[in-house]
Amino acid sequence: MGKMFADRLIVSIDVGTTKICVLVGQQIDHDHVEIIGIGKSPSDGLKKGVVVDIARTVHSIKKAVKEAEITSGCTIESAYIGISGGHIQSMNSHGMVPIKGGSVRPIDITNALDAAKAISIPEGHYLLHVLPQYFIIDGSERVHDPLGMHGLRLEVQAHLITGAIASAQNLIKCCEMAGITVLDIILEQLASASAVLSEDERELGVGVLDIGGGTSDFALYQHGTIRHTMVLPVAGNHFTNDIAVGLRTTLKDAERVKLEHGCAYTPLLEAATIEVELVQGTGNQRVSSKDLLCIIEPRAVELLTLIHEDITAKALLPMMRSGLVLTGGGALLKGIPELACALFSLPVRVGFPRPEYGIIDTLNNPIYATGYGLLLQGIKKRTNHIDAWSGPTVKRVLMRMKSWIADFF
Ligand SMILES: Nc1ncnc2c1ncn2[C@@H]1O[C@H](COP(=O)(O)OP(=O)(O)OP(=O)(O)O)[C@@H](O)[C@H]1O
Ligand SMILES: [Mg+2]
Repeated sequence: MGKMFADRLIVSIDVGTTKICVLVGQQIDHDHVEIIGIGKSPSDGLKKGVVVDIARTVHSIKKAVKEAEITSGCTIESAYIGISGGHIQSMNSHGMVPIKGGSVRPIDITNALDAAKAISIPEGHYLLHVLPQYFIIDGSERVHDPLGMHGLRLEVQAHLITGAIASAQNLIKCCEMAGITVLDIILEQLASASAVLSEDERELGVGVLDIGGGTSDFALYQHGTIRHTMVLPVAGNHFTNDIAVGLRTTLKDAERVKLEHGCAYTPLLEAATIEVELVQGTGNQRVSSKDLLCIIEPRAVELLTLIHEDITAKALLPMMRSGLVLTGGGALLKGIPELACALFSLPVRVGFPRPEYGIIDTLNNPIYATGYGLLLQGIKKRTNHIDAWSGPTVKRVLMRMKSWIADFF
């Protein structure tokens, strides 16, 4: 099955805190992919974006993979996967090298990026991405593509992202135990950004915030490249937990109430009386939608304020000229976009992944932004790297991750 286009087959696995989503695509060209299958299963082996229970995660991955194999009619052997969690750190770095042959050759770019990579990485961490922001030749104007340009000195400004080796290894192990070879690990917000942002937004300056179940992943773009990233271990599940505690109800009912009646912004509140189960499971109680709002709104304010404070402190807010794009399941919570708009004083929209080919209607939900973005990043990587590597061991995957020059070319 699926053999005739095996070389164009591409698979992503979004290992989320609430769901595992497997997408099967058929590559059309280096930035287009046709979605030919999807598999989804609830996930309960992760906390705040990182694997805490291998057996459960493997079970969920297997289930989602199987479903994706059935819907696509293809055998799935390898995939691109996403990574998130509080262990992710990012920083900007600078590298400078002489241009040896008079004009910039690929080796000069490699050397400049190597120089930018020469920072001290925290113990137990590895370099996940090296993303060039811009190049400078002989201290003059910023350039995006320095290849072939004349000069004496090449400088690069790069955004580096590191992650905990152990977290990556656990993720890889889960996939391999589910029979999947991991081709690459990609930071989740980079994936989400490629799924929901337009080129113009990225050029003018925009923030993207993926509010998932366990983490909220932020990325900021300007002049077409990444400027800043941040992962917060606060997201949709925390709203649900607070509701369960605040209303003394079960987690299951707290989730239901959140989806049906939750609101995060006072001006949008609709008065209503809501029946909720008692936590001990012996009957119901009545609460008002205002009680619910009083639990959700402060959490939402806290989450958005943490991001706002971070980017204000780093003087990055003026870069977000096209505003803020919210995605992930948490972006669907009523009032979140309006609250964000009020707090940031910026235009805010909800980002839906918009695949152009294949079973596209199913994917028209912010919870699939990461999965679809992983496919887009995957085809980009596949086109840009000569893929000589294949093999199952964690060590080799990690070695390969370290050896990547850049995600840019
Ligand atoms: N319509 C909705 N209204 C409010 N919240 C929603 C809605 N749909 C989904 N959510 C919330 O979104 C969260 C799940 O989002 P998503 O599927 O993006 O997370 P995930 O990818 O599994 O987690 P993470 O990315 O943090 O690992 C849950 O907390 C869920 O309650
Ligand atoms: Mg997610």
